[in-house]
Amino acid sequence: MAEQRELVIAIDGPAGAGKSTVAQMVAQKLKYLYLDTGAMYRAVTYLVVKRGVNPDDEDAVTETARQADIELKCNVDGSGKPRVFVNGEEITDKIRTREISNLVSPLSAIASVRSILVDQQRKLAAGGKVVLDGRDIGTVVLPNADVKIFLTASSEERARRRLKDLEKLGEKADLQELLAEIEARDKRDSTRDVAPLKVADGGIVVDTDSLTIEQVVGKILDICSAKN
Ligand code: DC
Repeated sequence: MAEQRELVIAIDGPAGAGKSTVAQMVAQKLKYLYLDTGAMYRAVTYLVVKRGVNPDDEDAVTETARQADIELKCNVDGSGKPRVFVNGEEITDKIRTREISNLVSPLSAIASVRSILVDQQRKLAAGGKVVLDGRDIGTVVLPNADVKIFLTASSEERARRRLKDLEKLGEKADLQELLAEIEARDKRDSTRDVAPLKVADGGIVVDTDSLTIEQVVGKILDICSAKN
């Protein structure tokens, strides 16, 4: 049998499309590293809130990003839930609150913050055998990635998924409010000047509305096999 090539797999798409679950499962199947780049933007946002930095003060936010030593700890074979640390503090669950979800989007539109995190993402992915999920992986971070997936779903379906996630964290939320927040975030993420959310050149759109997670993962693995 021919030797399997070591792939770099980019999975981009809007909030709630299921990117992290799917990316993590793909990584696990292929025994690749999984890098959740959204967690890096969330980690900077967490530090901004914790230190009481004014989120509108771009210089102060950028300085905070520079001082953030972010670690994404997952097993080299992609197994187990990835854990997130900033300056030694575990923030795995603390970065999933609604407060952080709503603040992270404007903060991730700051070019100087993106450039700090994009540099780190390229270094982390340099070894190959990696699945990254985010908004700009196929367009900006790694435009030469072997596989570029754009994972999407209707905003209603994504709001329903978000409600379930929040309920698991013990947070109460209203579906209509979540839908409005998701649509506002989509709009900000896809119309911002730097690295807007869009399908990369050569990207493959996978709509997850009527598919199970296993079907989505299967589809992506088929696309990966075709590259080998
Ligand atoms: O995937 P997520 O919801 O955890 O991402 C959080 C925010 O970070 C989201 O509003 C967009 C931003 N983000 C980004 O701009 N670029 C990335 N590569 C990943 C996330």
